[in-house]
Amino acid sequence: MSRDVGAGASPAMTRRTLLVAACGVLAVGVVAMPAAADSNVRTLADGRLAVRVNRIPELSRVGGAVYVGTVKGTPVGVVRATGGYRAMSLRCPHQGVPVRRDESGWVCPAHGSEFTAAGALELGPATTGLARVASSLKGGTLTVG
Ligand code: FES
Repeated sequence: MSRDVGAGASPAMTRRTLLVAACGVLAVGVVAMPAAADSNVRTLADGRLAVRVNRIPELSRVGGAVYVGTVKGTPVGVVRATGGYRAMSLRCPHQGVPVRRDESGWVCPAHGSEFTAAGALELGPATTGLARVASSLKGGTLTVG
């Protein structure tokens, strides 16, 4: 049995799309950092970040992801992946607007692109996932940038 979509409603309109629209109204281009991440991130003299990933609760499970700060003006997130951690740019590949974390991944407040927590593209208009940022892990600290 099919269901009619009422006039004015778009079948593509999802709860996430509505949330993005609402967030877009409030968007100021800043990504909030959870307090736990904030206290475990240090900016090095060369501009890279030293992230104590083993102390950030959001990164305690595979698939957890969190904004950790900026490297040379680019907002950066870290995701706990199978076998380690990965850093990614949080600038939307469509037009460079900072993306925001939501319950299942990252969402761009500008035009609604959606990405998995690991940065893979789920919905355009972006045509690629979030760019990877170089990182290396040593003794529980991920150096990013
Ligand atoms: S800038 Fe992100 S979807 Fe356009």
